[in-house]
Amino acid sequence: MAKKFSAPIAAAMQKYSSDGVLPFHTPGHKQGRGAHEFLRELLTAEGLRQEVSLMEELDDLHAPQTCIKEAQSLAAKLWHADETIFFVNGTTSAVQAIIFGTLKAGDLIMIPRNAHRSVIAGLILSGATPIFLPVEFDEEFNLPLNVSVETIERAIKKFPQAKAVLLVSPNYYGVAADLEKISRLVHAAGMLLLIDEAHGAHLTFCDELPISAMEAGADLAAQSTHKILGSLTQTSMLMIKKSVDVERVKMAASLLQTTSPNQLLLASLDIARLQMELDGQKKICAAVELSKKLRGEIKKIHGLKAFDAVKNFALDATKVTVNVQGLGLTGQEAEKILRRDLKVQCELSDAANLLFLITYADDAEIIFKLVEALKLLPRGSREKFLSPSLSAEISLAELSPRETFYSPVEVVPLKKSVGRICAEEITFYPPGIPLLMPGEKIAAQVVELIEREKFLRVIGAVDKTLSTIKVVNRFV
Ligand SMILES: Cc1ncc(COP(=O)(O)O)c(C=O)c1O
Repeated sequence: MAKKFSAPIAAAMQKYSSDGVLPFHTPGHKQGRGAHEFLRELLTAEGLRQEVSLMEELDDLHAPQTCIKEAQSLAAKLWHADETIFFVNGTTSAVQAIIFGTLKAGDLIMIPRNAHRSVIAGLILSGATPIFLPVEFDEEFNLPLNVSVETIERAIKKFPQAKAVLLVSPNYYGVAADLEKISRLVHAAGMLLLIDEAHGAHLTFCDELPISAMEAGADLAAQSTHKILGSLTQTSMLMIKKSVDVERVKMAASLLQTTSPNQLLLASLDIARLQMELDGQKKICAAVELSKKLRGEIKKIHGLKAFDAVKNFALDATKVTVNVQGLGLTGQEAEKILRRDLKVQCELSDAANLLFLITYADDAEIIFKLVEALKLLPRGSREKFLSPSLSAEISLAELSPRETFYSPVEVVPLKKSVGRICAEEITFYPPGIPLLMPGEKIAAQVVELIEREKFLRVIGAVDKTLSTIKVVNRFV
């Protein structure tokens, strides 16, 4: 059965739920019999019938021996890894496992200035201290590019004792770092290359996309399968090369995951892998073609610009960034108009841009509708656009995030916080990139930036108005 179905987890669930077993086990709804009708409508009777877990035949994510082991090996093969671990709490947990599973207290790890917030927990758990790497910036489009090869070279010279380099590649806007060159430099320096590839689970399926982290030589790569491919939200995979201590990474992953992983989520990863194995190249290359057409059409619309690859950084064409400055609108204003008046929802907006994700689920008709909606965007009256000017320094955090987490703290007015050590995370969401991490010295330019952007949705900070900020109770 498993062979015919070729999605071993889904096959095992189907077999168990059809076996006529009297269930005296979790989940409490007992294969849907006790479920409220709303839940039945939501997940369907069949979905609930198969929502079973923890039986021997369904394997154990924490010590996989049968169907989960088989599904993970099939994924490893497809994504060019030696091993794969499935995650039911997204790349957030996978990134935490990457750091927790490879570093220890006192170790130094290089991270980009715009790393995702999931890095913070990894740093607190491991006790490692970050070295912040500057990210190149595109002035015309007002958006972050990636970390350059030159920056990595300089950083390795400045901190040769660092144990690892973690990069986000591609970033939210699809801009990839030159991972092949960086991999050679990092490995020659005896460091690990760890990639947050949350936005890159599809890269390996089309030659026109930037090279995937595993193929470029990275040691670990965490991918949000759910973001771009066909698994359910919350599901991710960690791709592993044997160059790391695999057992330690597995232990870290296991410590961070629930003991009751939802089998529907696991099956969705297995089925997403099957879908890519069967048809990945055709589907992903078709999405790239659609994205190219979309870019071409956007360029014809007065006031709009579409972002293309720039020197030294490959671009994932399926991330279509549209700059709306020429219309006198901010990205946030344009997003609201599109959502409210034109029933189009983008992935994210920033001060100057809208980001549209084109996936294998899209077709020419939907692209046409998007183009028509973009043509209807009105003119606004904005003249000046502010860029998020983050530090260009390669700098070591003042305190490790773990020391910061356990330090006495005080709350001070934001304006008076310059020069103090930040004791909390300040992140605007989306995109979930911390402007300040615990342990970082607060720079005047970051305070200015927070003051400008504080109308955005904030996570991490205790005072959501951002008039005050938590700092470590000592001066540096
Ligand atoms: C760069 C990056 N890393 C990690 C994550 C976390 O991924 P997930 O939502 O799958 O937990 C995100 C989410 O947006 C992200 O943008």
